[in-house]
Formats: sequence, structure tokens, C-alpha cells
Amino acid sequence: MTGILLSVSLILVNILSSSSGDETKINNLFIQFLIISAIIALLIGFLVIGGAIIFRSKVRPEEVEQIHGNIKLEIIWTVIPILLVSYFLVVTIKVMAEINKPVAKDQQPDIEVIAHQWWWDMRYLKQNVITANELHIPVGKHLLVRIESADVIHDWWVPALGRKIDAIPGQPNNIWIEADKPGEYQGACSEYCGAQHAWMRILVVAESQEKFDQWISSQQALSKPPVSEEAKKGAELFQQKTCPDCHAISGTDAASHIGPDLSHIGSRETLFSGMKPNTPDNLSEWLTNPQKVKDGAMMPNFIMSKEEVNELTTYLEGLK
Ligand code: CUA
Repeated sequence: MTGILLSVSLILVNILSSSSGDETKINNLFIQFLIISAIIALLIGFLVIGGAIIFRSKVRPEEVEQIHGNIKLEIIWTVIPILLVSYFLVVTIKVMAEINKPVAKDQQPDIEVIAHQWWWDMRYLKQNVITANELHIPVGKHLLVRIESADVIHDWWVPALGRKIDAIPGQPNNIWIEADKPGEYQGACSEYCGAQHAWMRILVVAESQEKFDQWISSQQALSKPPVSEEAKKGAELFQQKTCPDCHAISGTDAASHIGPDLSHIGSRETLFSGMKPNTPDNLSEWLTNPQKVKDGAMMPNFIMSKEEVNELTTYLEGLK
């Protein structure tokens, strides 16, 4: 419930905030629809309520004249809606044509996003970087993002940066995103996709080209080997507990991408797709019993001792 309320408030707050030309066009279209719809709603409300007041039996006890059929009226209320709907159709198609810029068949996207129940796999194909749930982008760049799904239908939406688009298994879709101003932009999965749909958040960090390049090189670097004794034990546990069957950590043998890439998990702001801040406590809670944190998540409970959980947490949080 809290998740749903948070999602709704997030979308309301975000819905009219725009940080890209494309998004401004979508917002203007939305406002046009809203104004026209509001005028129609007011007009109908006025006629219904006004009629009920004017013709109420206390004031007009006599039966009002009953009218059957009125061709003029029929024509008016058929033609006006047709004109309005045609207008909506034309302006919508126009904006769609403007924001869905054509993509060449062989054009490689800047970023590939693969939706999973319930997290986002994010890949910078040109820079060979894989991360999860948090995207970094350079400000002022028009970026081509390919959206796919590994399981069910999800929907990508970061309202301030562009349109929303479904993530459909077997049917990759392209969208363009752009941030005109640096900042953090929130998004969420917008197609109901199971129990934890509300916890499929997206965080986009838009930053200067220089900062973005720094971030890319930090992500490209192999993860640092553990230093402290506790972290070393954690790294061993990671292998023993079969974590590499699902997760990858660069610089180690772990290379599976069934679950989120953990190479630089310590550098992310949030955990579990925007569900909790990235703190050792929150990660420990997860490792102790993932189902208690995010019921239905694919991660099994490995039934570890408190000591083991702490070692693993220290190791993973050290992967900056
Ligand atoms: Cu993924 Cu809703």
C-alpha cells in the first residue's frame, strides 16, 4: 500500500516536471487535453446540475414539455466530438512524430535496459559497462535507449526525460531520452508486473560530460579485491554460497547476469531497485532474508549466520 501511494505521489510530482524538449512537448499536449476536457466536464456538470436546480419540482411543479428528437441537436453533438477527437488525433500524431525520431536499423543504442521482475539491468554497450537500477547520463545529449524485458511486460517511465514505453519480451523498443539540466530524475515501472511492481524504481543521474566520463571509468575499472580480513572472508563466501550462479563481479570468476551486476554495487545510491538507501544495514537485512525485504524476489534465502552476513556485506559494500 505504501508502495502504491509512493508511486502515485512520485508520478504526480514528476508528471509535469520536464528536463527535456521532448518532455515539454508531451507536457504541452497533456495540458491541452486537460484544458479541453475540463471545459467539457464543466459544461456538462453545469447543464446537469443547473437543470436539476432550475427544473426542481418545488419551483416548477408543472410537467415540462417533453421533446422527442431534434435533428439539429443530434448533428451538433455528433459533429463537435468528431472535430475534437480529430484534433486530438492530429496533434498527438504530430508530437509522436517529433519525439520518436527515426532509428536506423543497424544503429546501436547508447544504453540497453532490460527489465526484470523487479529490477532493471542497464548496459552501456559502447563503453562496456553494466549496472542496475541507476542510470548515469551526460547532460544535453540525446541518447538512444533500447528497452527490453527478460520476463513479463514492464514499462519504462522517467517522466522528466521523455516518453514512457513498454518493455516487452522479445520486442525491443527504442526511445530517446535527454536531460537539459543536471540533477537526479526519478522514474518507475509503469505497467503492473507482479507483486513488487511498485518497487521497480529508476534513478537517472544527469551530470556534466566530465563527471559522466569519470563515472564511466570508475564503472569500467575492475572491482577492487578485498583488503580487510572480514571482506576477504566475504569474498570467499560469495563463491561458496553460489552467488556467482546469478551475479557478476568484474575481476573475479563471477560473470552470470541472471541477477544484478554487483561489480560496483557499493557506488550506488539505492538497493533493490530504489527500495532502500544503500547502507550496510539495509544490505545485511536483505542478505539475512531477501523475501522479508522484497517478497517474491528471485534471490533465495541462503540462511547465513550473522557473522557470515556481516562479512558478505563488508565485501559487497566495499565494491565502489
Ligand atoms: Cu515492472 Cu511493473
